[in-house]
Amino acid sequence: MNILVTGGAGYIGSHTVLELLTSGHNVVVLDNLCNASAESLKRVEQLTGKAVTFYKADIRDRAALDKVFKSHRIDAVIHFAGLKAVGESVAKPLDYYSVNVGGSVVLAQAMAQAGVTKLIFSSSATVYGEDAPVPYKETMPRGKTSNPYGTSKAMIEQILTDISIADPQWSVVLLRYFNPVGAHPSGQIGEDPQGIPNNLMPFIAQVAVGRRECLSIFGDDYDTEDGTCERDYVHVVDLAKGHVSALQATERSGTHIYNLGTGTGTSVKQMVEAFERVTGVTIPYQIAPRRAGDLPAFWADASKAGKELGWCAELGIEDMMRDTWRWQQNNPTGYSR
Ligand code: NAD
Ligand code: UD1
Repeated sequence: MNILVTGGAGYIGSHTVLELLTSGHNVVVLDNLCNASAESLKRVEQLTGKAVTFYKADIRDRAALDKVFKSHRIDAVIHFAGLKAVGESVAKPLDYYSVNVGGSVVLAQAMAQAGVTKLIFSSSATVYGEDAPVPYKETMPRGKTSNPYGTSKAMIEQILTDISIADPQWSVVLLRYFNPVGAHPSGQIGEDPQGIPNNLMPFIAQVAVGRRECLSIFGDDYDTEDGTCERDYVHVVDLAKGHVSALQATERSGTHIYNLGTGTGTSVKQMVEAFERVTGVTIPYQIAPRRAGDLPAFWADASKAGKELGWCAELGIEDMMRDTWRWQQNNPTGYSR
């Protein structure tokens, strides 16, 4: 298939472009590089020996999208482009609604005009909200989101669902990611956060490589086995393969929702211990106050993706640690953009 990947230069996007190319698909990427480097795509081309057509453009730029759809016979779109920092979304809600929600609307309009009606969207476990029982299942309703980032994902899910109800030609696949971590086993592409990482795995990796002194563990008094929060960490290569598998769901009209997770929770302390065990590097840490908005523990029921897409996560916590470390050691300052 010919696939347009928005946000394809980013962390999950670049890994997905690689898996699409190795599965025989042709890929066009549109990304404004506000949180990525074009170097990621160069490395994907080196790793696969295949070319990627790249457009540097904003997802809200309708003329740029129209040009892409006129220049290529696109069969399906995988839509990653968006802003993703929870704290920043509280400070700058308009940016998040403009890029995430507004950008998705402009994309869908351009698709409709071009007659492209297959769309896979990057959603998040955050749409289950604050009060959902674990494990999260796709049959549960969306819950109360606690920040504009999460609300933007819930709004986009609703907008895309409404489009598929209004026009049965559309097929919308909503992929709800749990906690993506890790890097490609080549060590050539990986996560390259700007500034101080908000997320656990890149923070651990930067402490290990000497860019940060000490990890703060946000709370050890939760009602969990060791008192630290538990999450469902999923290897980014598994996640990327999940998108290739999800293309088969675009053959069926309507909206299809899948959790992409492993089905297992791992605590913050267990993550630190696993990193130390796999790499032999000690991670100094201190216990800090709880972070506002954190939930104690959640993980996926990932059985629907197994049954309907034949997808399940194959890589474990130790693979995630090994591959993160290889990427971080090979690229101590990321892509150095
Ligand atoms: P990322 O920031 O690495 O990738 C997003 C990409 O979109 C970047 O390359 C960025 O340059 C691009 N982009 C941003 N705004 C744009 C705009 N206005 N026009 C064009 N391109 C734009 O993030 P990621 O971790 O790869 O996440 C990809 C998607 O998955 C996002 O939609 C994110 O919300 C979603 N998601 C991520 C996680 C996670 O933990 N990483 C979890 C759940 C959902
Ligand atoms: C966060 C976002 C979520 C988003 C996801 C992916 C919040 C509240 N949630 O998820 O909406 O979809 O990232 O981008 O921001 N931790 C530490 N020390 C650190 C960093 C994290 O102890 O320096 C802990 C956190 O308290 C949490 C766990 O590690 O318990 C995982 O944190 P993180 O990687 O930020 O992911 P989430 O909070 O699950």
